[in-house]
Amino acid sequence: MLEKINALLNETESFMAKTQSELEDFRIKMLSKKGEVSTLFNEFKNVPNELKKEVGQALNILKNKALDKIEHLRLALESKEEEVNFDLSLTAYPELKGTRHPLSQVRNEIIEVFTRLGYVISEGPEIEDDWHVFSALNFPPEHPARDMQDTFFIEKNPDIVLRTHTSSVQVRVMDNQKPPIRTISPGRVFRNEAISARAHCIFHQIEGLYIDKNVSFADLKQTLMYFAKEIFGNQTKIRLRPSYFPFTEPSAEMDISCSLCGGKGCNVCKHTGWLEILGCGMVDPNVLESNGIDSKVYTGFAFGMGIERMTMLKYGIKDLRRFFENDVRFLRQF
Ligand code: PHE
Repeated sequence: MLEKINALLNETESFMAKTQSELEDFRIKMLSKKGEVSTLFNEFKNVPNELKKEVGQALNILKNKALDKIEHLRLALESKEEEVNFDLSLTAYPELKGTRHPLSQVRNEIIEVFTRLGYVISEGPEIEDDWHVFSALNFPPEHPARDMQDTFFIEKNPDIVLRTHTSSVQVRVMDNQKPPIRTISPGRVFRNEAISARAHCIFHQIEGLYIDKNVSFADLKQTLMYFAKEIFGNQTKIRLRPSYFPFTEPSAEMDISCSLCGGKGCNVCKHTGWLEILGCGMVDPNVLESNGIDSKVYTGFAFGMGIERMTMLKYGIKDLRRFFENDVRFLRQF
C-alpha cells in the first residue's frame, strides 16, 4: 500500500494540466468518492496495526498534496484565461455621462454674460404674495395680469400666488439693499396658459435690474445689445418696439431675428420672422418710491426674458414642450 501511495504522490507532483477539463479529470481520479484517495482510505482498515501510523501519515500527505496541486493549477489556469481574453487593442468602453439640461446650459450662459457686466444673482420664493408679484410693481388693482386667466392663486388665500415673473425677487432685493443695485434673478415662473409649442404653464425667466444715479435708456440699450451679440453672435438682428409694462416707463420689447426660418416666417415666430425674447424699460418712479428708493436721485432699467425662448432660438428647437418631457433621446443631444 505504501508503494501505491508513493506512486500516486509522484504522479501528483509531476501532474500538469493545460485545460480546466484536464484538471477536473485529475480531481475526479484522485479525490472523488470512488477516486484513488478514497479507495485507499477504505482499504486502510486492512492495514496491519504496526503499519497504521506510517501509512496513515502518508495517506494524509497524499490527500493534502493533491488538494494543493489542484487549487494551484486552478488559479494558474484562471489567470491564464484572463490574459487570453484581455484584448489590449480594444477601444475603451464609452462611458455614458449625464449632460446638463439645455435650459440650464443656456441659463448659465446668460448668467455668465451678465456676471461679466458686474451683475450678481438673486433668488427668491416661487410662492409669493400679491405685494411682491404685483402691488410693489405698480400693477393697478384691476390689472388683467392679476386675473385668474394668468395667475395661479393658492386656493384658500387669494393674496398668495405662484409668481408669474421673477421681478418679485427684485422687489425683495430693493427691500434689502440700497443702490447701486445690479442684479439678475433666474428662476421658474408659473402662468395659467394653455400648453402649446410656444407656451407652457411653467417656464423659466431671467430678469435683470440696474439702479444707480444717471442710469439712462441708452445704458439699457447698450447692455441688451451686448448681451444679444454675446449669446446669438454678431450677425443677429435686434429690434426694440415700444411696449407697456406697469413697472417700467418707457417700456420696450426686444425681438431678435428668427434663426429657425431665417426671418421668412414659421410656426415658432408666428410667421413674423421675429421672436420676442425680452421685455424691458426704465423702472417706473412709482416702483422706486414703493420700494423706498428716492426717484429724484436714482433711475434704473429692468429687463426680463424667457429662457425657453432663448434656448429654442439657439438650438433650433421647434416645440417648447420638449423641455419638460425628459426624453433622454432629446436631452442627450446637448
Ligand atoms: N416681468 C416681465 C414679464 O414677466 C418682463 C419685464 C421685466 C419687462 C422687466 C420689463 C422689465 O413679462
